[in-house]
This record gives sequence, structure tokens and C-alpha cells, in this order.
Amino acid sequence: ANIGVFFGGRSVEHEISVISALQAIQAIDHSRYDVTPIYISKAGQWYTGEQLLDVENYRKLDELLNNSTKIIMSPNFEDYSFVESGAKGLFKKPLKGKIDIAFPVLHGSFGEDGALQGLFELMGIPYIGCDVLSSAVGMDKIMMKMVLKESGLPVVKYVWFYSKNWQQDTTSHIGKVEQTLGYPVIVKPANLGSSVGIKKAANREELEEAIDYAAGFSHKLLVEQTIVDLKEINCSVLGNYENAQASTCEEPLMSGEILSYQDKYVTKGGNKGMSGTKRKLPAEIPTEMSDKIQQLAVDTFQVLGCAGVSRIDFLLDQATNEVYVNEINTIPGSLSFYLWEATDKNFGQLVNDLIDTAFK
Ligand code: DAL
Ligand code: MG
Repeated sequence: ANIGVFFGGRSVEHEISVISALQAIQAIDHSRYDVTPIYISKAGQWYTGEQLLDVENYRKLDELLNNSTKIIMSPNFEDYSFVESGAKGLFKKPLKGKIDIAFPVLHGSFGEDGALQGLFELMGIPYIGCDVLSSAVGMDKIMMKMVLKESGLPVVKYVWFYSKNWQQDTTSHIGKVEQTLGYPVIVKPANLGSSVGIKKAANREELEEAIDYAAGFSHKLLVEQTIVDLKEINCSVLGNYENAQASTCEEPLMSGEILSYQDKYVTKGGNKGMSGTKRKLPAEIPTEMSDKIQQLAVDTFQVLGCAGVSRIDFLLDQATNEVYVNEINTIPGSLSFYLWEATDKNFGQLVNDLIDTAFK
């Protein structure tokens, strides 16, 4: 079978996706599967070619894209194929025949949010991971909280509003935040990844500043209660809504800080992706707590109707021992392979499981 791996994309997490995808491609069992890389540029154009498989080539991006073949996807009502795009006519020769399955390894908007999944649905291409609805709900921090809350899953107290309404009447929104949450709070755009647009606020002045800042990134804003004595715990889930298992829990040590792509994802000596981030693995928490978090992770995954591999990020209040679901990444950085390695499944087995799940 030929797997089309889609990566890059039009989101702020473009570079992270390149790393995640190249790692995943390396982990695919090449004796069982062929791979077609499909790189989506920041401008949204699609390319394929062998040279897209080498991370070093992305340092000279213009050259790389000049040497790659620009493509579009074309349904021909029997199968689907890539065709070269360009002046000579869109529906020219198929490039590599059909892909049998699409593997989206994109983070953030237009990749992790259901948009690309919708394209696959329309074209009838089986694909790995979450469907349109679970991707879309998982990407929108506000919708996700609403769904989880309604399902009895623990989320921190929050308020949300449209950026436009904030600009029209800051006073009543500040009043609502202060009455419902108090300080400190954390302000987030509804639908971005990798800490973009997020600021903490400990008083009214900082709140206004944080909301103005976040409003530059999204038309919907979320303000959450901050946990003072906080430990962050992440857990990955693999499977689908019928049958899902949780990985070992990790304690990320640098999240909260905003690191550059270079700092976070490309460390000296190779392409480490999320696997290069500092963490305690397994997390230093009592067994009952990790059992509880693993169960909440599976419940979250199943309530949202997820499939494939997700990473669910939790907030543990060390003062009260309460745990809250913070967010879900339906296409996590490095596909969370390091969490599965710690759980007794190497990256190759994880990718095999993902492909199997998608064909079911
Ligand atoms: N959204 C990034 C890639 C992550 O948290 O995994
Ligand atoms: Mg994310």
C-alpha cells in the first residue's frame, strides 16, 4: 500500500510538522509500505519528491521547492491521484498512481482542525487519525471544554467571548472575568497550538493587555482560572472510540515557556522534534494519580470521538490534588512516540498500529 504523508501546512506550527512527519516516515516499515511525501508550503501549495524526505534540505527552502514537483490532488471517480499542476494543464499525468491512505502529520490550523480531513472525506480517501468533527472540536479550546464539561469530565473554570465583543465593551468583559474567576488567569486564543498568543494576567491591567494580545490571533478568546501550585502531566491515547489505550504519563518540564523552533525542535545532533523537549518520563506522581489520569485521557479521547494517536494535556493542582483536562492535540508533536516507547511500543509499532486502525 502507498501511504501519502501530508505535512508542513499553513499554520504557525509548520516547522514542527516537518520534523514530526520526517520522523514518522522514518518509522514506517518500508518493506510493507511505500511512502509519498506531500509537503504543503506556508503559502498552501503542495509539492512531492524524494528530496522532501531530507530535513537538511529545508534549510534552503526555495531551492528545495524549485526541485520538487508542484501537485494537486485529483479525484477521477475510480481512484484518486496526484497530478502535476501548472500551465500545461491541470489534469496531466498521474505522478505515482493512487495513494491508498492519507497520513496527515500537520499541527494546528488547516491540518489538525478537520479542514484537511474534510478534503479526504470528499475525495473518499481513507486517512489516519481523527475525523472532521473530533479534529474540529479538539482544535477549538472553547468547544472542547464545553463538550467535556457536559460529559462530566473535569476542566478548569473559564469564560469565553468573541474578540469583537471585547473591543466593543471591555468593562463588562473584565467584570465577568473578575466575578467568575478572579486573578490570576490565563488568556488564550481559541484555536492555536504551541503556546502561541497565550499570556498570563495577575491583575486588571495585565488582563486587558493579555486579551488585546490574544485578540490579534483569534476571533474567539478563552480566559481560564490559573492553578497556582501546578504540575503539568501529559498522556497519549491510541486507538478509536471503541478501543483505546493510554500511554505512560509524562511531566513536561519546559512548557509554559515559549521556546523558538530552533530551541525546541532542532537541537544539535539531529532532528529530535518533541522528543527533544525536556521531561520527566514517567511523571513523578503516585500510581493512583497516573491511573486516574490515564482513565481521564481515554474518556476524553472517546467522548470527543477521536481515532489514531492523540496527546491529552492535564493540569494537576498540587494543593488540592484535583486534576483537569487542559487540552488535546489530535496530531501531537512527534506523534508522542516517546510516550509509547516508554510504554513498550517503539515508533515503528506505533505507526503500524495507526495504519491498521485507519484501515479498520
Ligand atoms: N501542538 C504541538 C505540536 C503539541 O503540543 O504537540
Ligand atoms: Mg497543539
